[in-house]
Amino acid sequence: MLEFRNVRYKYPDGTRVFEKLSFIVNEGEFVYVIGSTGAGKSTMAKLITSEAVPEAGSIMFYNLNVGRLKKRKIPLYRRQLGVVYQDFKLLPDKNCLENIIFVLEMTDKRKQECRTRAREVLRMVNLADKANKFPKDLSGGEKQRLAIARAIANKPKLLICDEPTANLDPEMSEEIMNIIEKINKETGTAIIFITHNSNIVNERRKRTLVIGGGTIVADLKEGGYHLQNEQVREFIEKEELEETQMITGLLNGDLFISNLSEQKKDDLLIKLLKEKKDEKQGG
Ligand SMILES: Nc1ncnc2c1ncn2[C@@H]1O[C@H](COP(=O)(O)OP(=O)(O)OP(=O)(O)O)[C@@H](O)[C@H]1O
Ligand SMILES: [Mg+2]
Repeated sequence: MLEFRNVRYKYPDGTRVFEKLSFIVNEGEFVYVIGSTGAGKSTMAKLITSEAVPEAGSIMFYNLNVGRLKKRKIPLYRRQLGVVYQDFKLLPDKNCLENIIFVLEMTDKRKQECRTRAREVLRMVNLADKANKFPKDLSGGEKQRLAIARAIANKPKLLICDEPTANLDPEMSEEIMNIIEKINKETGTAIIFITHNSNIVNERRKRTLVIGGGTIVADLKEGGYHLQNEQVREFIEKEELEETQMITGLLNGDLFISNLSEQKKDDLLIKLLKEKKDEKQGG
């Protein structure tokens, strides 16, 4: 249902992000997107929502060419998508129910219909009893649940989650994951889940796209960060890369670490590639 084909993108200020980004997401799929900070994960989300337009290549959503959409057609297209962000983006002067009704009323639904649907999605995220509360009176996890309810109110075909658990403690993150998995299973909404959280990716194994160097570094069927390659582990230890708490890249199942300088990352990548080549030639 979503296909990136050789997408090239740079920001107006000249920052190059993607050279050739290609991947497909099928209907109902759940896909993690990982990659080091600045790799372009959020930019990818912006390309999907048409906040950014590719310089070359194409983005197809069903048979709609997203990069070529006329301005006036964008709002209608976006209704087929739901987006959840790290910082919730709730309307502070509206209560939970009103936050949801607000997005429903932008469509041509009748008032009563909007109310009914708003209550329904609040129930789905276990917030039925908080309908009249304002965002400031909710916990972080509850705020994110409200943001999710709002994102799915219009029954999107695709829900994009850009680090929705980044500001939440582990317990709340678990709760959010359960809800998003439930939405995926019960409504068939496809999910693109951008995250830095290695616990989530390791424990709830799913397809994982790894973004780096302006392209897809790996597309792993069952995801997970692997820490199996002894050589790589030794290399990292030898180089005293202990500040590398965050694992973000993968290359053919090998570990690859972020929070390194770009140069160190490149060196590590080159070394890994050389090893792979030698292995192949040797055996
Ligand atoms: N509005 C902008 N104008 C210019 N450059 C930008 C803009 N937004 C992001 N960038 C740059 O584009 C690159 C990709 O940024 P992006 O936000 O997509 O990364 P990310 O993978 O989401 O990172 P993070 O994990 O930190 O959220 C970075 O080099 C960033 O500095
Ligand atoms: Mg980001």
